[in-house]
Amino acid sequence: MKKLILFVFVSMLCFSSMAKEGMWVPTLLEKYTIEEMQQMGFRLSAEDVYSVNQNSLKDAVVIFGRGCTGEMISDKGLLLTNHHCGYSAIQSHSSVEQDYLSNGFWAMSQEEELANPGLTAKFLDRMEDVSDSVFAGTEQLEGDSLQAKLDYNIRRIQQQASEEGKYEAIVKPLYFGNQYFLYVYQVFTDVRLVGAPPSAIGKFGGDTDNWMWPRHTGDFSIFRVYANANNEPAPYSEDNVPYKPKNWLPISMNGVHPDDFMMLMGYPGTTQQYLPSQAVDMIINQSNPDRIKIRTAILDIFSKHMEQDPKVRIQYASKYASTSNSWKRWKGEIRGLNRLNAIMVKEAYEADFEVWYMQNDTLEEAYASVLPQFEQLYINLQPYEKANNYYQEIVFKGIDIFKLAENFPRNDKGWNRLDGEKQGLVRKALDQKMTDYFDDYDLGTDQELFTELLRLLRADLDQSFLPKEFTDLLAKYNDEKLIRKVYQKSVLADASKLKEIVAEFDSKAIDKLQKDPVIKLYNGLRQHYQQNIERVYQDIKSNIARVQKQYMKGIMAMEKNAQLYPDANFTMRVAYGKVEGYQPRDGVEYSHHTTLQGIMEKYQLGNPDYIEVEKLKTLYETADFGEYGEDGQMPVAYTASIHSTGGNSGSPAINAKGQLVGLNFDRCWEGTMSDIMFDPDQCRNIMVDIRYVLFIVDKFAGAGYLLDEMDLIRE
Ligand code: ARG
Ligand code: ASP
Repeated sequence: MKKLILFVFVSMLCFSSMAKEGMWVPTLLEKYTIEEMQQMGFRLSAEDVYSVNQNSLKDAVVIFGRGCTGEMISDKGLLLTNHHCGYSAIQSHSSVEQDYLSNGFWAMSQEEELANPGLTAKFLDRMEDVSDSVFAGTEQLEGDSLQAKLDYNIRRIQQQASEEGKYEAIVKPLYFGNQYFLYVYQVFTDVRLVGAPPSAIGKFGGDTDNWMWPRHTGDFSIFRVYANANNEPAPYSEDNVPYKPKNWLPISMNGVHPDDFMMLMGYPGTTQQYLPSQAVDMIINQSNPDRIKIRTAILDIFSKHMEQDPKVRIQYASKYASTSNSWKRWKGEIRGLNRLNAIMVKEAYEADFEVWYMQNDTLEEAYASVLPQFEQLYINLQPYEKANNYYQEIVFKGIDIFKLAENFPRNDKGWNRLDGEKQGLVRKALDQKMTDYFDDYDLGTDQELFTELLRLLRADLDQSFLPKEFTDLLAKYNDEKLIRKVYQKSVLADASKLKEIVAEFDSKAIDKLQKDPVIKLYNGLRQHYQQNIERVYQDIKSNIARVQKQYMKGIMAMEKNAQLYPDANFTMRVAYGKVEGYQPRDGVEYSHHTTLQGIMEKYQLGNPDYIEVEKLKTLYETADFGEYGEDGQMPVAYTASIHSTGGNSGSPAINAKGQLVGLNFDRCWEGTMSDIMFDPDQCRNIMVDIRYVLFIVDKFAGAGYLLDEMDLIRE
């Protein structure tokens, strides 16, 4: 009986296709999901979403920068994405005198738009299943020679598709390497900043509201893609002209209402829906708690210094935000996975799997070793997972001065091979890195991180994972002495001395720097990590990947009638659901949307994450919402039951008619476990209502001229 209940539970929660769970491959909609999408209200065809022959929605959706999504909203290359996606571009144009982060920025004509070296927009030209070509000639191979042949095939496919550098071509595995797809992108490198609201709107709610609903963040910014006279990608030039995209999204002024069909197109980064129970157990009981513990220590130190010094508050704002973002999600994940009994659900699924492969000898031969192998591999992984997390979070990310140490050449072999001109370039590059580094560096803060995090490293890791010089050092000194002897004696803590060294950087400087106490300490830790942790860790991980590939193959065979979507891998996906609120806990009902009134209510709380914006208040008080309001209210954000993850930020939220109605930017707290297990009752994605975006552009910023380029649909 108990087993039966578990089975029902499993088929409810696990891999069977729920209406709203899933991130689907856009070329496979016809096969898998279009029927259901249409039943839920979608009026377009699969061909309208992704077509090889004609312009389709996919032509309007881009990879923005390194990890976000954006979309075309005019025939003049206007691009919409999140404020938090454009943040570093906006920051790079900001100074104390001209603080675009605080005050917002609006180009009032194309001439005023700002160039952003290094920023790209990638348009997907095509994608295709290349599994056959990737697997060609691999049938008899195993282990390293299999991998070598796969890599060789992949390189050839990529090279061919790139047409001598005209495109960026990349082959990526799906279903843990049971399939491979080729993605071919056109990469635009002249992407200019057009507009951004002040952070008090674009980042409203800050870390207090991050990963939370009800939400009131106007999380958007606007860019424009430029091309050469032939409408092709070109490096920045004054002669470039606005890119004319193959497609752009019409914008609906009609708003969103409960039960409306809603679809996201975009680039979800990573999900892990097919992990075995041991992996989920490790996430809940070890990896997340370890990383949370370390980051709690970091955030406490950040807060303390940020509160004491306004300069540090600005310098560490971005570090704080990115450190706290995953920290908060990891906490939500533990909560959500426990609520779902995720480990038990996975175990029950594995029991199912066992029953399935035992039905005949061939299956048994193929799959009987999968689960026992997982069992053993995850036991082996455990200490290395811990050590790896500690090194990553502390040595490679947490302590700033170590990051600086990483940037200097470690021996003069390479240096001596460079000619004078190249050496000059290296000096210049080092100088630039140092300037950037010291801009956002505070000695007092980093020193405290240094002692506190090294103390944690030593206290929590087994001795065998630490170099002897390091444990000796910590045994010899108390915190204060350690700082004085190691940190303060280091030239890396002294910006002006370091600048001098870099100006005359040569092989003598390289030798000398290797004796610097911080560089020595860092190199010792780094080496110990590489020799005693990383290799074993990667080795176990690649064994796990091999078993996981076989497990996935089995899952697909067992569930051949179900629709299984591949884990997110930062390739274009379609996800869909309905506009709806949810019940976060007993007796509480969350509405699907928020309004400007909620911003005014939050102003009253005195929380520094809710900064008042005078003009927004006035617009509210005079109810000056123009055509953007509805029923006397100004809509701000809304939720839907769509499966999304990091990377989906900036994704267009598209209604039943294929029109843009919102801009995705986050998920709700109760659903943060959705990367590992999706719960249709609690998982909601969060979008800005497009009418709020237009209201801010037009009524607030007075940049209404931008709306003239857009296709606004009013009927
Ligand atoms: N949680 C959202 C995402 O994962 C938004 C993050 C940016 N906002 C912040 N307060 N850190 O990216
Ligand atoms: N905020 C995330 C992003 O930046 C989206 C998410 O994780 O829901 O992509």
